[in-house]
Amino acid sequence: MSENHAYLRMQGISKAFPGVQALKSVDFSVSRGEIHALVGENGAGKSTLMKILTGALLEDEGQISLGDQPVQINNPGDAQQLGISMIHQELSLIPHLTVGQNIFLGREPRARIGAFIDWPELYSQAQALLDQLNVNVDSRASVQDLSIAQRQMVEVAKALSFKADLIAMDEPTSSLTDRETEILFQVMRSFKERGISIIFISHRLEEVFVIADRITVLRDGETIGTAPAVDLDVDQVVRMMVGRELGELYPKDEIEQRGIVLQATDLEDGRELRRVSVSLKGGEILGIAGLAGAGRTALVETLFGVRAATKGQIRIGGKQVRIQHPGQAIRIGMGFVPEDRKLQGLFLNMAVRENVVISALPEVSRLSFINFAKADKLAKEFVEKLKIRTPSIKQLIRNLSGGNQQKVIIARWLTLKPRILILDEPTRGIDVATKAEIHALMNQLAKEGVAVMMVSSDLPEVLGVSDRILVMRAGRIVAEFSREEATQDNIMHAATGGRENNAQQRSQ
Ligand SMILES: Nc1ncnc2c1ncn2[C@@H]1O[C@H](COP(=O)(O)OP(=O)(O)OP(=O)(O)O)[C@@H](O)[C@H]1O
Ligand SMILES: [Mg+2]
Repeated sequence: MSENHAYLRMQGISKAFPGVQALKSVDFSVSRGEIHALVGENGAGKSTLMKILTGALLEDEGQISLGDQPVQINNPGDAQQLGISMIHQELSLIPHLTVGQNIFLGREPRARIGAFIDWPELYSQAQALLDQLNVNVDSRASVQDLSIAQRQMVEVAKALSFKADLIAMDEPTSSLTDRETEILFQVMRSFKERGISIIFISHRLEEVFVIADRITVLRDGETIGTAPAVDLDVDQVVRMMVGRELGELYPKDEIEQRGIVLQATDLEDGRELRRVSVSLKGGEILGIAGLAGAGRTALVETLFGVRAATKGQIRIGGKQVRIQHPGQAIRIGMGFVPEDRKLQGLFLNMAVRENVVISALPEVSRLSFINFAKADKLAKEFVEKLKIRTPSIKQLIRNLSGGNQQKVIIARWLTLKPRILILDEPTRGIDVATKAEIHALMNQLAKEGVAVMMVSSDLPEVLGVSDRILVMRAGRIVAEFSREEATQDNIMHAATGGRENNAQQRSQ
C-alpha cells in the first residue's frame, strides 16, 4: 500500500490550545480498505487529529484531501457529507433515549418529507444494523439500561448507519470484552472488504497487531513514523511511543503481607452476587478476574457501599461494619476508583486541581475556607506522581485527553490515603508507559501496608501485578490462585467454566 494510493491525506496539520501545542505539522494518510492504527501515549494528539478530520475541531494549519481532492471540513456535517464517520472516545449517546432514537437522531426515517417519524421503520432499520454487528441489543431499549460495552456497540451501529467510506474509531475496544472485540474485528474486516477505510485508536497494542495493516505513531503531537504492522513489533512501537526503552512492564517486589484488614462473608446484593466471601490483607494486591457480567463490579460496589448488601457481613480490621453508602466506606478508610469514571466522578467543568483535591477537602480546608496553597501543593504533587499531562493545575478537566482524565480520578483517591484501595479496571484507556507507573504506584502503596483490590479484564495485568487472584463467574468466586499458580489458561478456564474458545483468549 504505497503513499500514492492514499485515499485520505492529512498534511502538515497543526493545532494549538492555550498552553498546549497539541499537533505539530502532522502527516497522516490512509488507503482505501485499509485498517490504519493510530497509537501514542495519553495526550499525544490522537483524538485531536481525529476531531479535525471529522469536523469537531478546526486545524490551525494544514491540508486534508480525499481521493486527491482537497476538502474543507468545517463542521461534522461536512465530514458526514464526505462519508467520514467517527466513534468518539467519550461515548456521545443520550442516555434517556432509545437505542434506535440515538442511532437515527436528527435523521429519523419518515414516510415522506414533513411526515411524522416512521417509528416501526426506525426500529427495524436500527435492529438490522445491530444484528449485522451480532450484538444482543434491542433497538427499543433505553440506552441508560445498557452496559458500557453495549453502548459502545450502539456507537458502532450509529457509525455504520452513515454509510461511511472512512470510519475513525477512537478507542472502541477499551470497554469491550475479548469476545466483543473479536466481533468488532470481524465487522471491521468486512468493512475492509467493502473498501471502507478504518482508523483505529487503541492502547492495547497486542490487538493493534491483530487487526491493523499499518501503524502510525504520534508522540507529543508529532508523527514519529508510519509502517506496515508486519514490519514492526510491540517493543518497537512502545519505543516509538515513549521515545525511550521501557523497563520491565510488571516489576514485582516481594512485599511482606500483614494481617487481614477486610473480610467479607457470604455477601449478596440481591441481584448478582451469590454468597461471595473474600479476604484482603494489608500489603497485598488481590486481583479479581472474570468475564464481563461475572459480578466483579457488583462485588466491589457492594464492598464500597455503592450497592446495598442484602446478605452477609463485612469486617474491617476485625470489626463488623455496615457500609450503606460510599461516605461510610470512605470514613473507615476505603477508596474506590470506579469502572465508569466519566459517569461516576469527574466534574467536567472544574479544574484539574479541584478534581484532584475534592475528596481531600477536609485536609486542605478549615472552617470551610479552602487553603489554596495546600490544595495547589497536593494537586501538583499528584499531577507529577501520575504524570498527568496538563499545562497547569488550573486547566479545566474536560480539556484533558481521555487517559489523563482517568489519571485525575485515580489521583483523587490517592489523596485520601486509604487503608483499603479498590480499583475497577484502573488502566483501561491508559497508555503502556503510564500503566507501568500506575502498577508501580500500586506496589508502592502495598509496601506502605495498604490493601489493594483490583478488578481487571486485562489478563497480563492481573497476572503481572497480583499476589493472589480470585476468579468470578455468575456472581460467585469459582477459583483462587496464588501468584505462582496462576496462568492465562487456568484463569480463563475458571472464568468460562471450561467453555473457553479462541475468541475469548486475546492473542498475544
Ligand atoms: N479542548 C481542549 N482544550 C485544551 N487542550 C486540549 C483540548 N483538547 C485536547 N487538548 C490537549 O491536547 C493534547 C492532545 O490531546 P488528545 O486528546 O488529542 O490526546 P490523545 O492522544 O487522544 O490521548 P488519550 O490517549 O489520553 O486519549 C493534550 O495535551 C490535551 O490536554
Ligand atoms: Mg484520546
